[in-house]
Amino acid sequence: MITRSIKKASLMAAAMALTALQSGAQTYLNPNAPIEARVQDALSRMTTHEKIKLLHAQSKFTSAGVPRLGIRQLNMDDGPHGVREELEWNTWSPARWTNDSIVAFPSLTCLASTWNRDLSSAYGNAVSEEFAFRGKDIMLGPGVNIQRTPLNGRAFEYMGEDPYLAGEMVVPYIQAAQRNGVACCLKHFVLNDQEIDRFSVNVNVSERAMNEIYLEPFKRAVEKANVWTIMGSYNLWNGVHCCHNDALLNGILKKGWNWDGALVSDWGGTTNTWEAATGGLDIEMGTYTDGKTKESEFTYDDYYLANPFEKLIEEGKVPMSVLDEKASRVLRTIFRTAMNPKKVIGSQCSEAHYDVCRQVGEEGIVLLKNEKNILPLDASKYQKILVVGENATRSLTQGGGSSELKTLRDVSPLEAFQTLYGDKIDYAQGYYSGRAIYDHVDRIDPEKQATLKAEALNKAKSADLIIFVGGLNKNHRQDCENGDRESYDLSYGQNELIAELAKIQKNTIVVTFGGNPYAMPWLNQVKALAHCWYLGSEAGTALTNVLSGKVCPSGKLPVTFAQKYEDYPYVAFGAEAYPGVNKQVYYKEDIFVGYRHFTTNNVKPLFPFGYGLSYTTFSYGKPTVKQENGNVVVSVEVTNQGKMAGKEVVQIYATAPLLSNIPRAAKELKGFAKTRTLQPGETEIVRISIPKDDLRHYDENTHGWALTKGIYTLQVGTNVNDIRRCVTTTID
Ligand code: GLC
Repeated sequence: MITRSIKKASLMAAAMALTALQSGAQTYLNPNAPIEARVQDALSRMTTHEKIKLLHAQSKFTSAGVPRLGIRQLNMDDGPHGVREELEWNTWSPARWTNDSIVAFPSLTCLASTWNRDLSSAYGNAVSEEFAFRGKDIMLGPGVNIQRTPLNGRAFEYMGEDPYLAGEMVVPYIQAAQRNGVACCLKHFVLNDQEIDRFSVNVNVSERAMNEIYLEPFKRAVEKANVWTIMGSYNLWNGVHCCHNDALLNGILKKGWNWDGALVSDWGGTTNTWEAATGGLDIEMGTYTDGKTKESEFTYDDYYLANPFEKLIEEGKVPMSVLDEKASRVLRTIFRTAMNPKKVIGSQCSEAHYDVCRQVGEEGIVLLKNEKNILPLDASKYQKILVVGENATRSLTQGGGSSELKTLRDVSPLEAFQTLYGDKIDYAQGYYSGRAIYDHVDRIDPEKQATLKAEALNKAKSADLIIFVGGLNKNHRQDCENGDRESYDLSYGQNELIAELAKIQKNTIVVTFGGNPYAMPWLNQVKALAHCWYLGSEAGTALTNVLSGKVCPSGKLPVTFAQKYEDYPYVAFGAEAYPGVNKQVYYKEDIFVGYRHFTTNNVKPLFPFGYGLSYTTFSYGKPTVKQENGNVVVSVEVTNQGKMAGKEVVQIYATAPLLSNIPRAAKELKGFAKTRTLQPGETEIVRISIPKDDLRHYDENTHGWALTKGIYTLQVGTNVNDIRRCVTTTID
């Protein structure tokens, strides 16, 4: 159906281009002409060499236009959380501009933790306004790789362990950004779920897990948001690099999903001309770098899709239609962005952007423990509040790899505590991380570490409340690109320090930053715990607004926090399942990633998927269910039973009828909705519509999706293990 309409559109466009050509009008320059007519008209005017130039970098972050015809180049830049500082034209060195300090928005895992589609739209709108203002046409993000291991160094840039949540939360961000005329570049397509051996690891995964888990968020973004560009991943699938993998890019993405966008390589992800020419790559970026540390003597014309590809065309070894197909996709991207009359001018560091930044932070913070309601903080109860920890003062917007940001505002937790509680606040660093942002080892001096610890423990004796602010950071082998964590534990002696602080003062609250779950041996000794992911420019403000009760926490975990590392499903399968052996990794847990494993195999997590406390409580009425227009619609009344206004996230987990021949997960998230702020006693009727197609499973025998007939149990809850109500519906 869709193919037919694309064919019809291209025939129409060709006819229009022909008319325009005859009339001499430059349709491609007519901003009101249909994009397909502009594409065909431009293509008909270009030489072979001009088409080739469109297909590869002309600098570190731009690909060429057609200067002779007045067709603009494509300006790209990182990253998912804000516009990267300007780098030099040809190198990874900062260009040292003085007007490129921007808003650092919270990490995408934080956005996922809000479970708030409206906020995702606000985020996409705001961050794309900053990209537009800096003259960028393509933003290199967001990322929706699946968090199958809590050690993945880049998990903070992604949206959790569940494909439905990641897909649903990324769609509004993309729609809003592209409404501003800025293309998203969804990454990293696909299976880039670890950083160890990222350039060379070959991922072995079942066809069913590939479709039900790893492709799903990308498919949802293509089908619901029509994402305009996608970034191929460095790793291999079935022995072929994903940046030019014919089965993946031509087979699944372009033909299977009828995608009309441009596939951009990751920087240095292109490895040979023939595959680049025939394997679905459209724009080759960053080649001839070895992990971005040194440039080769090659010029941009030596790129695989440059002269070597042009030679294949001239020799007739690759038909001109292949070149035209690539060039059309790049031209379509140019007319959607750089030459789009509706592209916004945008803005930078506006208060509206800081508001979005703060709101996403406030709604993404997950309150995991709150014993005796020590939170919200009533500062009048305390004389001396000791803040301990390097993350109370360290900027967490720098470092981490390509998503690093140069900010104009960067409110630290300590600053915000001091603003709010004045001289009640004392501070001790407690530990330090060696700030080895790009060094490959944290240079920790044990003497210095011991001194910092002793100082904190000494100060703790005179404090009547301790707020520890720690967790992970953006150092290499913490939350940072091109390396994974080496342990499920927190580093730098934090566990021992927290335990000793709590022994001295039982009123101890722990606040952690980080993109991944971690072990908490001290959990029973502390009164409260809030996990913040990364909050960006308004970190301190968002954190103190939640701890002080100005904002009621509503964040819910997009990942499972296991009791211990060994509980993660792939661990039992050994090194082959992670990080792989001889550059081969096998996803042996198959579809049982995250809570799919913990619920199906009755493994009790420390904190389950979807978990997050509030300062109030919500009750659920009796849900009703009906089927209409191909959807299963569940309605349920949610009432705020507590004393404080707050928001609830209603989650629906489906349990499908068991199948004789294939295993199924005990529960799968198939719907969610966040209420508006409910005042105490207020009720909202929450209505969640689940397309029946979302209840299908992937059948490897037919290589397609199948909907099992039978009774589906729909569990309505506040996290995957806290089900409040159940309804059933029968699929005939
Ligand atoms: C990096 C990352 C990618 C980033 C690109 C440009 O290696 O994998 O996410 O957008 O290069 O910096």
